[in-house]
Amino acid sequence: MLTVRAPATSANLGSGFDVFGVALGAPADVVRVERASETTISVTGVGSQYIPEDPEKNTVGAVADALDAPAHIRIDKGVRPSSGLGSSAASAAGAAVALNALYDRGLSREELVPIAAEGEALVSGEAHADNVAPSLLGGFTIVTRDDVTQVDASIPVVACLPETTVSTRDAREVVPDRAGIEDVVDTVGHAATLAVGMAKNDPAIVGRGMDDEIVTPERAALIDGYDRVRDAALEAGATGVTVSGAGPGVLAVCRRSSRRAVASAMLDAFDAVGIESRAYQTHVG
Ligand code: HSE
Repeated sequence: MLTVRAPATSANLGSGFDVFGVALGAPADVVRVERASETTISVTGVGSQYIPEDPEKNTVGAVADALDAPAHIRIDKGVRPSSGLGSSAASAAGAAVALNALYDRGLSREELVPIAAEGEALVSGEAHADNVAPSLLGGFTIVTRDDVTQVDASIPVVACLPETTVSTRDAREVVPDRAGIEDVVDTVGHAATLAVGMAKNDPAIVGRGMDDEIVTPERAALIDGYDRVRDAALEAGATGVTVSGAGPGVLAVCRRSSRRAVASAMLDAFDAVGIESRAYQTHVG
């Protein structure tokens, strides 16, 4: 039996749609594997009732296939499905690390990124790696068609998850096909700023780089109370706020000294529109 802890992640960070991702200190999935002649999957923990245990339909089944590593796989979910914190990616990344070790495949964490991303294709219809990469590599990751760049950033964040859900498929349907050149120029500028902020471990610069006028406004419209929560977080000292992944989670970047106040403001703002939520006071890491 081999056990791996796989962290939640937040993709996009506003200006880096399908490119940027960060690993979070909490929550996390725990994946246990043991050798078997055929893959079986059992799932417990938060939201487990919504996750298929059929290996043909579960992200980790695709990972076991890709590594030719049949196993009894037990997933203890700490990352709630459809919350915007890379739930399926955490399970896929954890399974990839665990099965690689169990069968002595000898692949590096970087080499496991496309394998874990195969699992993502099952869930969203596309094999994008902006959640699996940070879950596997930690810190801040930049995923392009050809490669992954990783930075060991450590930035305080609050991830606030409303009780509502948004499916990644639905959230991808509202992404515009095209963008105007002014919005593209602004977004490139913000993305570059954000990456520098991560390299410098500076929450103020990261926050300045989170603005995005192309995808985020469409996604925000799917989240009840989003504007109120964003404004409350900024008022309480957040340096930047955006939709976490496909939503409905909301991610705020802040200084360590204001993290508690930001979390409290976000919880109160969701509460004011009649939505229960849970806030993780954590960090990129
Ligand atoms: N970049 C992807 C999206 C991540 O925002 O659709 C989904 O988890």
